[in-house]
Amino acid sequence: MAKTGSLTSPHVVIFPFPIQGHINSMLKLAEVLCLSGINVTFINTQRNHSRYLSFNDVQSRFGRFPGFCFETIPDGLSADQPRSAGFRNSQDLVNMLHRLKTVVRPGFRELLTSNRLKIDTRGPVSCIIADGILGFAIDVAEELGIPSISFRTSSACSSWIYFCLTKLIENGDIPFKDEDMDRLIKNVPEMESFLRCRDLPSFCRAKDLNHPSLDFVIAETSYSTRATAHLLNTFDIEAPVISHLRAYWPNLYTIGPLNSLLNTLRSRTAYSPHSSSSKSVSSNASLYEEDRSCMTWLDKQPEKSVVYVSFGSIAMVSREQWLEIWYGLVNSGHRFLWVKPPDSLLAKDDEESHVQAETELIEATKERGYTMEWAPQEEVLNHSSVGGFFTHSGWNSTLESMVAGVPMVCWPHLADQQINSRYVSEVWKIGMDMKDNCNRLTVEKLIRDMMDVKREELMKSTAKVAEMARQSISRDGSSYRNYEGLLEFIRKSC
Ligand code: UDX
Repeated sequence: MAKTGSLTSPHVVIFPFPIQGHINSMLKLAEVLCLSGINVTFINTQRNHSRYLSFNDVQSRFGRFPGFCFETIPDGLSADQPRSAGFRNSQDLVNMLHRLKTVVRPGFRELLTSNRLKIDTRGPVSCIIADGILGFAIDVAEELGIPSISFRTSSACSSWIYFCLTKLIENGDIPFKDEDMDRLIKNVPEMESFLRCRDLPSFCRAKDLNHPSLDFVIAETSYSTRATAHLLNTFDIEAPVISHLRAYWPNLYTIGPLNSLLNTLRSRTAYSPHSSSSKSVSSNASLYEEDRSCMTWLDKQPEKSVVYVSFGSIAMVSREQWLEIWYGLVNSGHRFLWVKPPDSLLAKDDEESHVQAETELIEATKERGYTMEWAPQEEVLNHSSVGGFFTHSGWNSTLESMVAGVPMVCWPHLADQQINSRYVSEVWKIGMDMKDNCNRLTVEKLIRDMMDVKREELMKSTAKVAEMARQSISRDGSSYRNYEGLLEFIRKSC
């Protein structure tokens, strides 16, 4: 295994958008690079960093790489902010974008241009890998005269739609009326036969073309073309849209699924994450405390009998939706393991009747259901008792489910999740899309479809997709070859 920590190794700075899903995939990339002998400085915002340190065994995961180091920059969040992202609604998102501009951006520039990294024992910074929606990092790289790599942590299909947004606006496809949700969109090549208005990324639902998140995505997508190279956490399954993206991002490296690439590299090196203790080292970067008690519960359940339910780290669920999901799950007759992160419930304290109903439901279903605040998700998806995933279609969750060969019921909430879920159901045929339709009858029907009625055909396609993912990170697979190309690119930069 190549060693990090040498002054002759390249030194890469990695900078994620400060939310769970993005930190997760970029930290996997960091570990992948360390395993290949690259020195890495990983930048977290302060609040996320203290949460990361509280809930992860940093020593086990990164202690053996002398060339790895965390740095922090201010985020402007108050100390009592409970959620890592700091947003529950669109106004919070606007505030977050404001903090990025006024606090995070100057903090990042100050760190890179100050002596803090210049006198670093890992040598001068040879390249910046920044989140694909943090375009200001490309400015800093240009100022320093070093290459920048833009890493979009979402799907290729969503990135391709982002490039088409201006055309969709010019053609009057967006904004659209509520009654047009099922109209087909004909102006996104590759997606003409299945893309409806409701499948467009969530901010396309804005009635106002000056909506801040729509503006943000269009601006960041256009800005991203200035980066020297691009990275996507995806694989051949998205080949048709990847080829369109290459027209805008000629130096594009698709190196996914990163969780599989990381596990493969871990097993090929002398490193065994299980060697020093009986506890496995998670490859996730949790900003919540993982509750491992669910693994003991899963051990007691029959093979492929459990539906794993998780809507990621950002999605907020109303009390009404929560109850509909619960009834749907219970009425489906299947066992379930449900993650409910703290503060993910949009609820008012005075809803006494609901609280009473919930208490009764929990009591009535405790034999078949298990709930917790945060799970070791990858391990859960790979557990033999898990037979299905009821998911929000975040891109990391989608990839993790594909790799584990677990079919999905998708209930997308925001951003790229709307198009991810459409691909899952219409293109890859590895699940069902419950978009915009959260009621107990639908939940019950789709869970039954996934676990019983359509089980056989779903399992055939999930097995194919899992095999394709495995192939792509094998030595002659496309993602592995791209990863070697990326290493060469980074080495040439130093
Ligand atoms: C967000 C967006 O939703 C997603 O669409 C975008 O592509 C990236 O950022 P998030 O909503 O958190 O992320 O979803 P997702 O991308 O699925 O990431 C969640 C991560 O948290 C996954 O890697 C998952 O394994 C992990 N997780 C989730 C846990 O480790 N435990 C849990 O209990 C739940």
